[in-house]
Amino acid sequence: MTPENQQQYYNNNIQICSDVSESSSSIGEDATDVMSVCSNSSSKYDDLVVSPHVGHKKVLVTGGAGFVGSSVAEALLARGDDVVIVDEMNDYYDVNMKESNLRRLQDMYPREGRLVVYRGNICDLTLMRSIFENERPGWVCHMAARAGVRPSIDDPFIYIQSNIVGTTVLMELSAKFDVRNFVFASSSSVYGGSKSTYFSEDENVDNPVSPYAATKKACELLAYTYHHLYKLNLSALRFFTVYGPRGRPDMAPYQFVDKISRGAEIQKFGDGTSSRDYTYISDIVDGVVRSIDRPYPYQVFNLGKGDGTSLNDFIGIVEKHTGMTARVRQLPDQAGDVPYTCASVEKARALLGYEATVSFDEGIRRTVEWYNSRGGNGERGGGVIATPSMFNGYIPTDMADNDFAGLSRVVSVDRIQ
Ligand SMILES: NC(=O)c1ccc[n+]([C@@H]2O[C@H](COP(=O)([O-])OP(=O)(O)OC[C@H]3O[C@@H](n4cnc5c(N)ncnc54)[C@H](O)[C@@H]3O)[C@@H](O)[C@H]2O)c1
Repeated sequence: MTPENQQQYYNNNIQICSDVSESSSSIGEDATDVMSVCSNSSSKYDDLVVSPHVGHKKVLVTGGAGFVGSSVAEALLARGDDVVIVDEMNDYYDVNMKESNLRRLQDMYPREGRLVVYRGNICDLTLMRSIFENERPGWVCHMAARAGVRPSIDDPFIYIQSNIVGTTVLMELSAKFDVRNFVFASSSSVYGGSKSTYFSEDENVDNPVSPYAATKKACELLAYTYHHLYKLNLSALRFFTVYGPRGRPDMAPYQFVDKISRGAEIQKFGDGTSSRDYTYISDIVDGVVRSIDRPYPYQVFNLGKGDGTSLNDFIGIVEKHTGMTARVRQLPDQAGDVPYTCASVEKARALLGYEATVSFDEGIRRTVEWYNSRGGNGERGGGVIATPSMFNGYIPTDMADNDFAGLSRVVSVDRIQ
């Protein structure tokens, strides 16, 4: 990205903040430390709005080989920031996909210094301290986690370790090394016990229904503690099911595109009117980058599309874009299903200037295009062979990242660039 483009990116970002909150801040006067508060907005978030930091950043992106992390890293690099990735490259799903995500970034940014990749476990305090000492990242985008609701019931320990211990290591070091903003992935799964239709950050989420959800809630609590003790700026981002190119192969959108394209059977639970909020990857990336740029003292944000798609529409849209008719095995409703779940994005809109722009129809069209461009599920130089342990089709009880179990394999530390 040229300096002109980068400035344009920042300008656009600021413009949206101004549009939403009618900021009267003085962006641009000090490109390295813009923290003034927007005013004149009329929402209940009036007094909270923080203007975006403008200028170059060095960002530590954990989980940067994964789906969301690699996509965020790409956006940061594209606008001129430097990125340090830490990822243990575990085999929760096909490691070739993660290798291919890293290779792609390295091919795009071969120049020394722009992108540095460490292969290692975020729970390793010694390793992580040396990375902070060597790299001195000013900003942290923590996407690494064991993701997935169901596997966390089978093996809660690995979730507690990676998600809670790993996050604590990062918060501890971020406080010690004066990180200016720490943004991390929480999950809509924290709303697991909720009966609401629109999930709002104000809701009490003290009743997580899986170890995975409990680890995410625990990280939100720890975030408050680190803010309280050390004045570390932290934002927790509750993602609502993310999908799109290079998406996780264990999740329903990938599974439906794959199975329907191949003529394989999908399972349909209930009458198909149940509905979920699916968020296209570029909208999530936009929300994450906006959050990195805005060092809120302590905030929790929903990042979703803000409206739901029914199971029947989901199947129809995939059929339309694959040109195939789904082979559907009809099954009864699953116990505990809620008919409609959806993010309230009012707060992210007011405080981040966030607005999802990609419709589910368009997102699936792009996902199918990507799927076809790499030869479907079989040949991709780093693809996924469907395994029996993968879920069969749509699993309505999971509100966020529904996954299959995988074994942990920590790869040795290897600063490869
Ligand atoms: N994808 C979704 O729909 C969704 C929804 C809600 C929340 N989230 C959260 O968003 C984040 C990113 O999810 P994703 O879909 O990209 O998952 P992903 O599995 O593709 O990426 C996570 C990455 O973290 C790495 N990792 C895991 N434990 C690690 C450890 N201890 N040390 C170093 N690296 C480690 C993995 O190797 C992987 O590459 C996660 O925190 C996840 O819980 C995702």
